[in-house]
Amino acid sequence: MTSKTHVNKQLTHTTYNGYRFGVTARRLFRWLGSKQHIVPTLAPALRAQLVSTGGRCVSLFYGSGALKQAAFAGATVLAAEANPDLVALHSQLARDPARVWRALLFLDSCSRRKRDGEGAYRRVAAASLSSPLERAARFLWLSSLSWSGMWRVNSLGAFNVPPDRARLARPWPFPGLRVFERAGQAVRSTTFVADWREAFAAASSGDLVLADPPYAGGFVEYTAARFTESDQEDLAAALQRAAARGVLVAAFNSPSAARWYEPPWVRWPITRSGRVNVRAARRGDVSEFMATLGWQPKGDLTAAEASQQRRSAAAEEERRVLPCKLVASRS
Ligand SMILES: C[S@@+](CC[C@H](N)C(=O)[O-])C[C@H]1O[C@@H](n2cnc3c(N)ncnc32)[C@H](O)[C@@H]1O
Repeated sequence: MTSKTHVNKQLTHTTYNGYRFGVTARRLFRWLGSKQHIVPTLAPALRAQLVSTGGRCVSLFYGSGALKQAAFAGATVLAAEANPDLVALHSQLARDPARVWRALLFLDSCSRRKRDGEGAYRRVAAASLSSPLERAARFLWLSSLSWSGMWRVNSLGAFNVPPDRARLARPWPFPGLRVFERAGQAVRSTTFVADWREAFAAASSGDLVLADPPYAGGFVEYTAARFTESDQEDLAAALQRAAARGVLVAAFNSPSAARWYEPPWVRWPITRSGRVNVRAARRGDVSEFMATLGWQPKGDLTAAEASQQRRSAAAEEERRVLPCKLVASRS
C-alpha cells in the first residue's frame, strides 16, 4: 500500500493504492447535536465574554466541540465527554493526526470493504479493540460509512447504526489528511475527563461553562448510560449554584427542558435543521434554546440567527448544485 498527500490552495490531493483523490474542505465527522449551526452567531459573543473576565472555557458535553473550537481556538479548555470512542479520537488527533489517518488507511485496506461491503462493516463494528489508536480509526471508518454519518450505541455501548450502501461502495469515502490536521490542531489544547461533574467541579469564578447535554426528550444514544430526566434536573441545579459563585453559564436544551431553566435564567430561542432524524415526519426545523446566567449575548440573537440560517440555506443550495466533492481517478 502506498499513500502520498499533495496540498495546494484549493484542494488536498491524496494518492492511495494508485488512486488519486481530491477532497475539498470538510468536517472530519458528523455528530448529532453539534452546535455548528450557531457558531457564527454565538462564537464572537462567547469569546468577548471570556476575554473580559480572563477566565477559561469549561465544556461539559464536548461532542464535536464545534462551538468551543470556533470561539476559543488555541486557548486551554477543560472538557468532559462520556463517549469513549469519541474521546479516543480527539486524544489521538491531538497527539498525531497523520498517525490517525494512516491507521484509518490501514483499517480500510484490511477490512475487505470493496469485496464484502456490509459483511466488512459488521465485522469492523463488532471488532474488539486493543488501543486508543485503533478505536479512533474505527470511529472514523464507521461514522464515514454509517447511515447519515450517525454514531449511536445500544445500552451495552455497542455501535448500532446501519451502513450507507452508497458510501460503502465508494473508492474513498473518508476525509483527506488536511482535514485530520485541522481537527488535531483544534483539539490540541483541550484536556478531557469522562463525566460532566468532574469538569464542572473544576470551574471557578470568571470561567465560562458551556453545557450542551443530550436534549430532554431527544437523542440520548451517545453513550450506554443514557442521560435521564434526573440528570437534567441535577445539571440545571448545579449550573445555577455555580453561577451564584461567579461562574458564567451558557446551557443549551430543547423546549421540554424549559421547566428547569426558569428565571433567574434568561432563555434565548434558537432554530436548528432537523434533517437527521430516522422518522421522516420529524425532519422539519427544530426549536431549542440557550439559557444564560451571569452574562447575556449582546444584540438580537434571534435576528442574527435568522440571517445566519438564510446564509446557511444559500450555501447548502450551492453545495447541492456542485455535488461532486470527492474526485477519484487513476494517477
Ligand atoms: C448534544 S451533544 C453535544 C454536542 C456538542 N456541543 C457539539 O457541538 O458537537 C451531547 C454530548 O454529551 C455527551 N455526554 C452524554 N452523557 C455525558 C456525561 N455524563 N458527561 C459528559 N458528556 C456526556 C454525549 O456523548 C454527547 O457528545
